[in-house]
Order: sequence, then C-alpha cells, then structure tokens
Amino acid sequence: MKALVLAGGAGTRLRPFTHTSAKQLMPIANRPVLFYGLDAIRAAGITEAGIVVGDTAAEIRAAVGDGSRFGLAVTYLPQEAPLGLAHAVRVARDYLGGDDFLMYLGDNFFGDGIGAVADRFRRERPGAELLLAKVPDPRAYGVAELDPDGAVRRLAEKPRRPRSDLAVTGVYAFTPDVHEQVDRLRPSRRGELEITDAIQGLIDSGRRVTATRTGGDWKDIGSAAGLLEANRAVLDRLAADPARDHRIDGAGGVSGPVVAEPGAWLEGSRVTGPAVIGAGARIIGSVIGPHTSIGAGCRVEHSEIEDSVLLPGATVRGAGPVRGSLLGHASEVAATAPARRCQRLVLGDHSKVLIDP
Ligand code: DAU
Repeated sequence: MKALVLAGGAGTRLRPFTHTSAKQLMPIANRPVLFYGLDAIRAAGITEAGIVVGDTAAEIRAAVGDGSRFGLAVTYLPQEAPLGLAHAVRVARDYLGGDDFLMYLGDNFFGDGIGAVADRFRRERPGAELLLAKVPDPRAYGVAELDPDGAVRRLAEKPRRPRSDLAVTGVYAFTPDVHEQVDRLRPSRRGELEITDAIQGLIDSGRRVTATRTGGDWKDIGSAAGLLEANRAVLDRLAADPARDHRIDGAGGVSGPVVAEPGAWLEGSRVTGPAVIGAGARIIGSVIGPHTSIGAGCRVEHSEIEDSVLLPGATVRGAGPVRGSLLGHASEVAATAPARRCQRLVLGDHSKVLIDP
C-alpha cells in the first residue's frame, strides 16, 4: 500500500498565514503538522508516499526532502491548481498505478495515529475505508450517514443541513477501483472534484464502504482554533513523556515539562509547562505557559503568554495577558501598559499591533 499525501491547496480559512506559507507546515509544538502525518504513515507500515504539491511546492520540498528522515521514499506530484481532493487523485494516477493507497490530508492531525484505518482496510479490503469523528458542528466537513450495520450509506460535502454529526476526517484507504469513479466526476457546486462524490459512486455501484470512528484526538488545523487545539494535545503528551523534558540550563522558574531548543534564553521569567521554547528564543521578565509554543528566534519581554503559538521570529513586548493567540512569522505585538483583560490575537506574518489599553 502506498500513501498519497495532499499538501497543495490554497488554505483560505487559515489566511492570513497561508498568504505567505504552506498551511501543512504550520507548527505544532514547533514541528510542522505535516511531519506528524508522515510519522503516522510510516507507523502504519507504509514506506512509499506521493506528496501532491501546489504553489508552495518549494517550501514543502525543502522541509520534507526525499523523506528518508521519516523512513519514507517520497515522490512529489505537482498539481497545477487546487481543483479538489479527487483531482489530486487524478494527478497521482500514474504514481499509484494498480496499488491500494491511503490518502492523507496534510493539514490534519491525528494524536493516536492512523494505524486502525490501515489495519482494518488491509484485513477487510472494502471499496473504501474512512475515519469518522463526532463533531458538534459538521457543516464544515464531509458528513457520513451510516447503515445500521455501520457501513457508510451516504456522504455529503459541507452540507447546510447535516444528516448526522459524523465528520469525514482526512484519512481514507482505497483500492484502485476508486480511479474509475474519479474519472466520472464533474466539478461540484464549489467547482472542485470531490472525493466524497467518488466514494458515493463506489457505494452506488454496490461496493461496501466501511468506517472506523476516532475519539477526540483528530484536529483539522485549517483554522486557528484547530491549530491551537492540536498544539495543546501535543504539549499534553509532552507532559506524559519525561524523556523529552529538557530543562533550560541554569534557569529558575521552570516547572512542568518544558522543552528548550538549543540557544533558548530565559531571564527573570517563569515558564509553566507543558511548553516548548524554540532555538535562540529570548524570554525576558515574562510569564509563559502552560500550553505555549514559542518559535525559534522569538523575543518575549515583560509579557504574559498562555495557550498560544508564536511562529518563528515573533516579538511580544510589554503585553499581557495574551491567551489563545496565534502570532505569525516576524509579527510584532507591543503594549503601552499591561491590559486588565486578556488579549486574544490572530496575527498574520509580519503584522504589527500596538495595544494601548
Ligand atoms: O479535514 C477533513 C475535511 O477535508 C473533510 O471533512 C472534507 O470532506 C474534505 O473535503 C476536506 O475538506 P477541506 O475543505 O478541509 O479541504 P481542504 O481544501 O482544506 O484540503 C485538505 C488538504 O488537501 C489540504 O492539505 C490542502 C490539500 N489539497 C486540497 C485541494 C482542494 C490539495 O493538495 N489539492 C487540492 O486540490
């Protein structure tokens, strides 16, 4: 079985970040979300992966390379425009040949991996196997309706009136039979070739489509809220993994699991884990954490930051409390005085904000 990883697309929901960078490289605990996916694919026993890339191909290639770091042989598959998930399967047709494949959306994060999907698919070899998650508002997702025996009966892509609360997550396993359905597709109302329509085609032609349910460990990081949730989930695991608890040398005021990358500098500050402090970041006179990832080269001075992600090179001066925030590459936040109420900021790369409470 091969993997087909989708890392093209435009990522409009994660603007302003994805105006400038690939959303699949957004960091979770200072590591690109895509890397967790590639690890999960390898852990599911797959060694060959095709990665579909679009406008941000150069960035993805620079980050992933030939895949050997992940134990994968990677082939890049350029897609001329984000014309839909099923279009990406068309692009990969020659690469996939007659093989079964596991399709993985590069902006999805699965805390418990994807082994259950791969194993069930290998055992039962249905027309397709999906991973579903119960969500409070399924309107932003593909939505599945099940038969009483648990097989998938019907799928709808981002329906206005969902017929269940079961969202289709970003991992699917297919036999090569799906190509025939993909060939038949016409663009949907939103102008894309939808993989949900191809799967519906399999069901309508009498193939069994099975589904496994996942617990609360699935996050779609296509939104700032999803990214912060994934960050919390990974940092919580850090708490359970004492091997990764590297204290900052010589610094007092560190409690709980805190990973400090080389050259991180802490002065007159308190860090409460779980947290990661990126290489060369400087934290001065500040209170950080819990659930906070500070990217490489960030500067935080006389500020209070909790439950937030700072992308590399972000600067925060005199601000706080800042909570539930996502600050882009080289963005700058400064405050004229400490705020009484907490600030929640989602800032694009290179933006500047002056808080004058
Ligand atoms: O996250 C789960 C959802 O993913 C499912 O519930 C939906 O049924 C499915 O259609 C998909 O919806 P999204 O709107 O979230 O998909 P998005 O456009 O964000 O694309 C998902 C990934 O695939 C992302 O990493 C970008 C990549 N992609 C997307 C398109 C449309 C491509 O590589 N090529 C494409 O043409």
